[in-house]
Amino acid sequence: MTARAQRTIGFGVIGCGLMGRELASAAARWNHLVGLDFRPEFVAACDTDPATLDRFAASAPTARAYNRYQDLLNDPRVEAVYVAVPHDLHTEIYLAVLRAGKHLLGEKPFGIDLAANARILDEALARPGQLVCCSSEFPFFPGAQMVFRAVREGKAGRILDVRSGLLHSSDMDPLKRINWKRTVRHNGRYGCMGDLGMHAVHLPLRCGFRALDVRALLTKVHHHRPDHAGAMVPCDTWDNAVLACSGIGPGDGEFPMLFETKRLAPGHANTWFISIDATELSLRFSTRNPRTIETLPYSPNSPQARHVRDIGYESAYPAVTGGIFEFGFPDAIQQMLAAFCDELAHGRDGMRQPFYCATPDETSRSHALFDAALRSHESRSVACIA
Ligand SMILES: NC(=O)c1ccc[n+]([C@@H]2O[C@H](COP(=O)([O-])OP(=O)(O)OC[C@H]3O[C@@H](n4cnc5c(N)ncnc54)[C@H](O)[C@@H]3O)[C@@H](O)[C@H]2O)c1
Repeated sequence: MTARAQRTIGFGVIGCGLMGRELASAAARWNHLVGLDFRPEFVAACDTDPATLDRFAASAPTARAYNRYQDLLNDPRVEAVYVAVPHDLHTEIYLAVLRAGKHLLGEKPFGIDLAANARILDEALARPGQLVCCSSEFPFFPGAQMVFRAVREGKAGRILDVRSGLLHSSDMDPLKRINWKRTVRHNGRYGCMGDLGMHAVHLPLRCGFRALDVRALLTKVHHHRPDHAGAMVPCDTWDNAVLACSGIGPGDGEFPMLFETKRLAPGHANTWFISIDATELSLRFSTRNPRTIETLPYSPNSPQARHVRDIGYESAYPAVTGGIFEFGFPDAIQQMLAAFCDELAHGRDGMRQPFYCATPDETSRSHALFDAALRSHESRSVACIA
């Protein structure tokens, strides 16, 4: 039996924590996907914490380990770099990756604030030959893909209302130990919007929806948390955000768009959801019920019946998993990595399936929204989005 020839893309990872390991694991089980002519291989890994780097070796045993990202960027085997570091390091490291001539898959929010994001985008724009994408995996869930296709094919009709968000209960425990994600210094002024917001806005943006303005409601509940020694220290990031926006889309008229990013959402482990009400077809999908999509077709004089469909492993890139089985978070990460590699290998027009990773422009629109949200909350008024 002859295996199909595959182009190997040498990856370096900078930041080998939670997400670095997740991406390396997705690459390590690449044989899960079928019929692809490209394959990522994590050949280099960098983390400033030696214990984290050691742990990472289990996910990518052949990757060369570096303590300084500058040394990883000098490794000629590295063609593309996945960066998963705290937000205050995004600009420095993303710029270094681009200036080293490497392709970049960077984590959200893609710069700690609007100005940082603009600097990264300027550098990316100056380098059209390098692929630059932002990590955002939830739209690769089969149910999310179905929502996207229905909207882009014009099946929804006029949009009445869009809601999407990411809900955690990870910070409900007031004694949960502090880490960089809960300090403005490392995470940024956006707080939970910087952490979770790109997840909430990516699919609506890709559907062609834009926020014209925002009235933001930001909540801070736990002002202190224990540090590693048990001392209570300031925890100054926003816990929850609700953003009420005036939306516009490719069709007629404005409609409400509501984005929720919450770290204090009782009962939710990691719920990503999208709900679109529209005149001809309403759609709902949530990772809480990952194998279910709800639709409600409407035509005059017919009953308004909600359809609940079981969906299986109907992934954008085909996999060995049978179509009746479940799709999950690691699968979405692997599909996103496949989309990045596909675009790198074949260009956007030659991709095997059409859903490409989040673009720098999409990150810029997300920053414009979050920046306006901060202004809105501060002034207790509606803020326009440039
Ligand atoms: N896509 C998603 O679903 C998702 C989920 C969680 C986090 N994230 C994003 O991923 C990024 C990282 O988050 P995480 O949860 O993996 O954080 P983490 O704290 O688990 O990992 C960050 C790693 O970066 C390392 N690091 C710090 N400074 C460094 C430097 N100068 N050089 C090299 N390594 C350095 C740390 O030692 C740590 O191991 C953030 O941008 C975050 O918003 C994305």
